[in-house]
Amino acid sequence: MKQTSLFPKRARIVEVGPRDGLQNEKKFVDIETRVELINQLTKSGITHIEAGSFVNPTWVPQMAGSDDVFSKITRGEGTSYIALTPNMRGFERAMEVGVKEVAIFASASEAFSQKNINCSIAESITRFEPIFDAALKNDVAVRGYVSTIAGCPYQEEVSVDVVVALAEKLLAMGCYEISLGDTTGVGTPAQIHSILTGLLQRIPASKLAVHFHDTNGQALENIKVALELGISVIDSSIGGLGGCPYAKGASGNVATEEVIELLDKLDIAHGINLEELTKARQFIREKLSQ
Ligand code: HMG
Ligand code: MG
Repeated sequence: MKQTSLFPKRARIVEVGPRDGLQNEKKFVDIETRVELINQLTKSGITHIEAGSFVNPTWVPQMAGSDDVFSKITRGEGTSYIALTPNMRGFERAMEVGVKEVAIFASASEAFSQKNINCSIAESITRFEPIFDAALKNDVAVRGYVSTIAGCPYQEEVSVDVVVALAEKLLAMGCYEISLGDTTGVGTPAQIHSILTGLLQRIPASKLAVHFHDTNGQALENIKVALELGISVIDSSIGGLGGCPYAKGASGNVATEEVIELLDKLDIAHGINLEELTKARQFIREKLSQ
């Protein structure tokens, strides 16, 4: 008898390489290359691409010029190009270049919040409030991150209760989806299972995404855990680029092409052309090695 699969029939990839990936590369990648990378990723059929961030360029110099990137990309029909915006200043900069989707980011660790965005968790929520009002007026979608769900390099414990409360708060404020960040890639499958189970008691799987860095080589296993629990949105980065400049020891995100291979093995549809994706990976690898 054929066993019914526990996995979702379809998954959606949110490609974060042009932002999370390139923000942590030592080499500054020029605007033209970032634009070409995003255009190639669009060709592969990815529907959600985090294309840059509007943060303080003194803090993250690699994302300087994100306004030019958004102005120059060739937008695919049905593709959403997301901008990371930490505050109203970032949101306003994004609006100047026609951004239709932004991502805000809060941390479940007080210490990481201070290191990353220079304020407490509570203050970060206050900074996001006007973004939701403005987003509603401008017909802009807001995605939310909760970072450091499985551990933080600057704080001993991260409480699952804080993760759940933050995710619920950001959804109530107006995020259409919460991306759960294992920022430093320290989560084990058992730990991720326990965190996700805690979240799923309060939040439907359709509102959650996973964002796993692959520091300890556990990201694919952890994604499998998420898929088994019905979560079908996966953040990943072409070629496994990246990390976070304010999370010591964070390596790149899980590689998009490896996630695609996993989805294929599990017979989960994704709509992405692996050949085009491979071309994009080759392109950025060559540029980074020059
Ligand atoms: P702050 O210093 O607290 O901000 O920084 P402030 O409001 O006090 O302003 C100080 C200066 O920054 C002022 O300039 C502002 O104009 C400027 P000055 O008057 O001194 O010349 N400023 C800005 N400039 C450009 N764009 C802005 C902006 N806001 C203020 N939006 C801030 C607060 C958040 C801006 C700063 O801490 C920052 O830029 N941090 C970088 C955060 C970041 O990009 N981290 C990496 C991304 S998060 C991540 O990777 C995790 C994630 O992937 C999920 C996961 O893996 O878990 C999302
Ligand atoms: Mg990240």
